[in-house]
Amino acid sequence: MRMPLIAGNWKMNGSLALVEEFGRAFAGVSLPVNVEVALMVPFPFLEAAGRALGETSVTVGAQTLSDQPSGAFTGEVSAAMLRDCGARYVLVGHSERRILFGEDDAMVLARVKAALAEQLTPVLCVGETLEEREAERTESVVLGQVEAVFDALDEADRIRVVIAYEPVWAIGTGRTASPEQAQAVHAAIRGYLSRYDDALAGGVRLLYGGSMKADNAAELLSQPDIDGGLVGGASLKADDFLAICQSAG
Ligand code: PGA
Repeated sequence: MRMPLIAGNWKMNGSLALVEEFGRAFAGVSLPVNVEVALMVPFPFLEAAGRALGETSVTVGAQTLSDQPSGAFTGEVSAAMLRDCGARYVLVGHSERRILFGEDDAMVLARVKAALAEQLTPVLCVGETLEEREAERTESVVLGQVEAVFDALDEADRIRVVIAYEPVWAIGTGRTASPEQAQAVHAAIRGYLSRYDDALAGGVRLLYGGSMKADNAAELLSQPDIDGGLVGGASLKADDFLAICQSAG
């Protein structure tokens, strides 16, 4: 069975005060035991988030990483540094990274490998733009992004990757993919993974992201191939994020 994962993505938002608020909010509730919860915070908050959430089952993660292990790369942060600061997960290839920072498939692959080498779980983000969806290219774009990474990994590493399907047109727009639209793409990704092997297809966790909210999470999460969510805006309010975590149980 695949354990559902609800991952919050704060993006370049939040503060140390918000980290503390989340610590208090999550300490006071019991999360469903069969759900994993992770919070991807900005680099400077990683340690504080680990401490604030230390008494809870919530793990912390980062939003990107360098593809290099160390060296003269001013401003970059390595996988080993993230681990040192308590991260267990790291987003790779978020559409904002791909579009705003020019990360292409080769750069995404290098980051996935860097994360795996330091025992971080990469959450590989894939998704089509509105233009690509309207041109009926959703599957080819999304499966191409998955293939660019999975083809280059060995069998033992493939199963360690989490995939987040995030239609670009649904991110931060309030326009969620319908459960049927999301399920169709998730099923296509799982079908694609079965070309490697059935155990991989059955085991890899596929998250949906894009305007997931407390009031639409349950329906999305009830789809057979949706194993969790990557939550942006709604992960900045403790009550909203908690409600989404509860609905995954
Ligand atoms: P959103 O962001 O929930 O605000 O749409 C999701 C994401 O970018 O991961």
